[in-house]
Formats: sequence, structure tokens, C-alpha cells
Amino acid sequence: MEKILKRKILQKKAKIGVIGLGYVGLPLAVEFAKKGFEVFGIDVDASRVEAINKGRSYILDVTSEDIGAICKARLFCATTDYKIIRKLDIVIICVPTPLRKTKEPDISYIVDATESIARYKKSGQLIILESTTYPGTTDEVVLPILSRNSLKLDKDFFLAFSPERVDPGNIRFKTRDIPKIVGGVTKKSTQLARLFYQQTIKEVTEVSSSKAAEMVKLLENTFRSVNIGLVNEIALMCNKLNINVWEVIEAAKTKPFGFMSFYPGPGLGGHCIPIDPLYLSWKARVHGFEARFIELAGMVNSYMPEYVIKRIAEILNNFKKSLRNSKVLIIGIAYKRDVNDIRESPAIEVMRLLAREGVDVSYFDPYVAQVKIDGKRFKSAEWDPKAFKNKHCVAIITDHSCIDYDEVLRNSKVVFDTRNVYRNINAKKLVRL
Ligand SMILES: NC(=O)c1ccc[n+]([C@@H]2O[C@H](COP(=O)([O-])OP(=O)(O)OC[C@H]3O[C@@H](n4cnc5c(N)ncnc54)[C@H](O)[C@@H]3O)[C@@H](O)[C@H]2O)c1
Repeated sequence: MEKILKRKILQKKAKIGVIGLGYVGLPLAVEFAKKGFEVFGIDVDASRVEAINKGRSYILDVTSEDIGAICKARLFCATTDYKIIRKLDIVIICVPTPLRKTKEPDISYIVDATESIARYKKSGQLIILESTTYPGTTDEVVLPILSRNSLKLDKDFFLAFSPERVDPGNIRFKTRDIPKIVGGVTKKSTQLARLFYQQTIKEVTEVSSSKAAEMVKLLENTFRSVNIGLVNEIALMCNKLNINVWEVIEAAKTKPFGFMSFYPGPGLGGHCIPIDPLYLSWKARVHGFEARFIELAGMVNSYMPEYVIKRIAEILNNFKKSLRNSKVLIIGIAYKRDVNDIRESPAIEVMRLLAREGVDVSYFDPYVAQVKIDGKRFKSAEWDPKAFKNKHCVAIITDHSCIDYDEVLRNSKVVFDTRNVYRNINAKKLVRL
């Protein structure tokens, strides 16, 4: 089985399945198809499947031209039908891993996808989990489902974990440029997964187990969360001490070793940094260990949207205006620059808190046409700098690179800049986080 799969991989004859065609799965599927593998995308969302089969992309990092070309070359197609699994040699799982309302891991998407694989699997397949999850998921959750009916690892199937490290919107590092980590449940699984990724990804590193590979991803994202928490706390401190935190970070950055810059902001956003560390702290707690750094960083980071409101209230106060009935325009509501993803975006929380205070809040975001907050639909304002004059405060929450910030500053009464977009500009009507 192992030899046959190896040969198929090296000859690019292995048929690949990617389950979950989102920010992670779609770019990955396209990458393998571009290398000449025949790739089948499986998604429960029929509209996404239809879009792909019509050669249309819905993810900013993937072009419709690329999808159209690989579909035309019969190297890529999508389906909602799991029966396709019977034809495949390698199946990669890229489904969501959100939190439940109780902030505990929700791995039901992984379980559903694995159950569907188990229903249709054929002998000798390599299954790879890429969804971010707590250490032990591959071993303790995926393996038992795939082993039903006395199926044996290394004989009937192979199983590995390989964390996805894609950074949506990053034009410098695309899927193929980002080194891959692989950790199999067995040595053979690791070697097969490594060989497979080596066909497309420039650098592949092996670790000793799937658990270690799962932990690598959580270390990376916890590292970011904790460092952002630290710099957010430094920003709160600097505000009290009347020091410009941005100036301090720029100066600290000149040290060529021992310092890595992180920046304060209005709070954490996206599908990874606010969520992944909680997967780790949950698993640690199950084993009787309290992850104190994660807890503390979470407390500081989740306070930031409230802090933004406090600062806006202070700004308005200086104009003898209360929050209630004031007009505030938010610029940028996606969770980060140059993407259309609003998952966990702190801007949404800022808008929610402002609306609750009775503020007439609106937003402008060229990437996000509309958003629903607490049941109310908001539409992005048109780009009209003259209208900025009618706002009591304009708050920059996400700094998309296509926005003309000089126009914003020129036309606004006062601008609250949470992202330091006006790096070297000093103006009376400019207030920094
Ligand atoms: N977005 C990122 O920047 C990023 C980066 C690294 C890792 N990750 C991780 O990758 C995983 C996927 O994240 P994403 O951002 O691509 O999510 P996404 O929501 O963009 O895409 C997930 C896709 O899976 C589909 N899906 C859900 N259940 C399914 C099922 N049972 N069968 C088939 N399809 C199903 C959904 O319809 C959706 O199209 C998560 O674990 C996430 O933490 C995300």
C-alpha cells in the first residue's frame, strides 16, 4: 500500500481530495492542481461548489483565472457529494474549528468530515488533518473513527496532522512559500505526508508525532496572542504616562537581536489568534494545568474594544459632546488589512458597543458591503470625504491599503487612529491609540 501510494505521489497520479474549500482549503487545492495533481474539492456549501465549477473564486487570495484554468484542464472540480472519497488517494481536512458559546473547542466539523470519510473510504488512503485543533485530536478523535471495522493503521490507511499556516491577504508568503510541518500518527504516515507536501511546498519539516504537529500551530498562535497582549498592555500604560507607544516600538525595533515588534490595536480578530489559544488552554485544563499566560493575554486583548470606546468618549468630551447622539464613522471593519473577512473582528464589537451607547454609528469598508450586528443591518457608507465633516469622530479600526488616509484627515473634525497609519504626521485633530 505504502509503495503504491509513494509511486502515485511521485508520478503525480495520486488523486487528492480537499474537504472544506474556505480560506485554507481553496488555496491549497489550487496549489496542488497547478502542480498537475487531479484535485477534488468537497464542501457542504452548494453555492461555493457551484462557484468553483463555474470558474469563480470567492476568496481574495485565489484568482478566478486560476480556478478557471485548472477546471478547464480537468485538474480541479468541486462537489457536495462525499462519495467521491472512494476514488481518492489522499484526503485533506480543512474544515472550521470554532469555539462553542462556552468558549470550549467545537470539533464537530472535524468529526462530521471524518465520519463521512469513514463511510466512503477505500483501502490505502492517506488522511491528513489541517484544521487547527488541540493536541491529541488526530490520535484521540480522528483515529478511532477511521479504525472502525478493525481497519489498521499503516495497513489499511495512513494518518497525519499538518497545520495550515496560511496568512490571507499576505502577498509575500503564499501557500507554497510557507514551510510545512508534518507529524504522522505513525512513522510511515509522516513519511508519506512529507513526500506528498514536498511536491508543492518548498520546505517540509517532520516532527515526531501528530500531537507535536498540533502543538506547533498552537505555540505559534499563542505566541502572537501573548505578545499582542503584552504590547496592548504597554499601550494602555503609555497612555497613562503620556508616552507615544508607537514611537517607543519603532525605536525598540532598531535593536538587531532579542526584540520582535508587535503592535497594539483595537483587539484581536480573525479565525485564528482569538480562538486557537483557547483550544490549548482547554486541553491543558482537562489535564489539570492552568495556562496563565493565555488567560492574561485574553483578558488584556478582549478589553481593547472597550478601551477604544473609552478613548472615543474622551475625544468627544473634549468637544463638549457626549457619546449619546454623536455621529461616529468607523473606517475598516474587516478583522485585518486588505481582506473581506469579518470573523471575530474587533471593529464589530466596537460598533456594537457604540450603538449600545446611543451613538449614531456608521462604517466605511471597501471590502465589506454590509454587516449585521445585534439583528441590525449596516451597509458600508460610500467613499465621500466631504461627508466626514458631518461626523463628530472618525475612528480608523482597520487600515486597508487602498484608503486615502490624507483625505480622511483633511476632511474630518477629529480622527482616532488605532493603527498608526499617520506614522510621521502630527496634527491637532489626530489622536493615536
Ligand atoms: N483563515 C485562516 O487564516 C487560517 C489560517 C490557518 C489555519 N486555519 C484553520 O484552518 C481551518 C479552516 O479555516 P478556514 O478559515 O479555511 O475556514 P472557512 O470557514 O473559510 O472554510 C471552511 C469551509 O469548510 C466547509 N465545511 C464545513 N463543514 C464541512 C463538512 N463537514 N464537509 C465539507 N465542508 C465543510 C464550509 O462550508 C467552508 O467552506 C480552521 O481550523 C482554521 O482555524 C485558518
